[in-house]
Amino acid sequence: MGIVALFCTLFISAQNNNEQVIYNGVPWFDTDGNIVNAHGACVIEDGGRYWLFGEYKSHGNNNFIGFGCYSSNDLVHWKFERIALPQQKDGILGPRRVGERVKVMKCPKTGEYVMLMHADNQNYTDPYIALATSPTINGEYTFRGPLLYNGKPMKRWDMGTFQDEDGTGYLLIHHGPIYRLTEDYRSIATETVNIKGMGESPAMFKKDRIYYLLTSNLTGWERNDNYYFTATNIGGPWKKHGCFCPKGTLTYNSQTTFVFPLKMNGKTIYVYMGDRWSYPYQDEAATYVWLPFTVNGETLSVPEYKRAWRVTNGSNWQFTGRETHIGMSSDTKGRSVSIPFKGCQIAIAGETDNKGGYAEIRIIDSKGNLLHKSYVDFYSKVVDNGLRFISRKYKKGSYTIQVEVLGEHWDWVDKHGTETGSAGNFVNVDKVIVR
Ligand code: GLA
Repeated sequence: MGIVALFCTLFISAQNNNEQVIYNGVPWFDTDGNIVNAHGACVIEDGGRYWLFGEYKSHGNNNFIGFGCYSSNDLVHWKFERIALPQQKDGILGPRRVGERVKVMKCPKTGEYVMLMHADNQNYTDPYIALATSPTINGEYTFRGPLLYNGKPMKRWDMGTFQDEDGTGYLLIHHGPIYRLTEDYRSIATETVNIKGMGESPAMFKKDRIYYLLTSNLTGWERNDNYYFTATNIGGPWKKHGCFCPKGTLTYNSQTTFVFPLKMNGKTIYVYMGDRWSYPYQDEAATYVWLPFTVNGETLSVPEYKRAWRVTNGSNWQFTGRETHIGMSSDTKGRSVSIPFKGCQIAIAGETDNKGGYAEIRIIDSKGNLLHKSYVDFYSKVVDNGLRFISRKYKKGSYTIQVEVLGEHWDWVDKHGTETGSAGNFVNVDKVIVR
């Protein structure tokens, strides 16, 4: 190996230690080593950092316990800042309520950070769009109750936000309406348009004078083929298009939440941000699917599912290491495998399908201390083979990973009374990969 090649190899392996890679469908660890809990999220860039706001989901139920705020300088390594809006003592975001789809924008007129969200009861029959504000991006937001339109609360559910280049703020609502916010973003000024054929989970971005509006069908937390609209004027006419991911992939097993224009090396990558929900263990078993869009005139697509990609240029990435075949497939509660390994990081690969259930993953050090424990979901309506878990990085040493069949699975009755979820409790581990 020549000097240059050797240098390149060393350089590449040094970079590996601080990968700027987004992994899809596996839990992410924050800089404290906890699982990033930010679902139905948005990202905004402010003061030279990226800020991620999302639903800080609970374990085992659907109670709102808060919206979390994380920050990062590369969109990959996230520092937990705080619970930006905690559960309120009472009222529409009090105990046993639901809080979803938090979106934050900085109001150009007032300089204030404005947080909008969906608040509801457990049956989703008492929806509100609600408002909270803060003078700083990472402060605790003050809850201000329902967002008002002509003095009346906006009683709708799935929502998103969009800030146009001229600073105008918009509220996007399920099933069609787009509202322009007042200049202080604290209430609604007017209905701009009502788009026929819209579904849930609205998200919008703009590129070269074209507006793109993404939406999902109505299947609760189950995935479906999300689709999109385009327009050159936000007031319409809006043109309906088909799916932006290949049909039948169910948006690569995810649901739209936001699109983040990532400016990198003089280029912009439009990042699709989606949720791979997992009820009732959304806090640790629901994961994120973030993928670079291909935008070509009115055509929007994610032609390929990238399991992992470099944020610097959108290119594919693969987690590599020493592989050991495991071949476990079991739905017997309590059945487990225990795999000792030497190294600093371990990944689990296996299949998810419509009979998949939860596994409990534990990592134990050589003294028997439990370093990590979380649930991983092996359910997906569309079969998928890939990484299900990548541990955080530990000091180089000897560890054991245990994978145990929990005997539980995703189970949810959506707001239309339809039962969704898995038909079994299978955990399928093909192999582990150690670094
Ligand atoms: C849809 C919505 C989510 C949530 C679930 C609950 O997926 O987009 O925000 O309300 O339904 O079933």
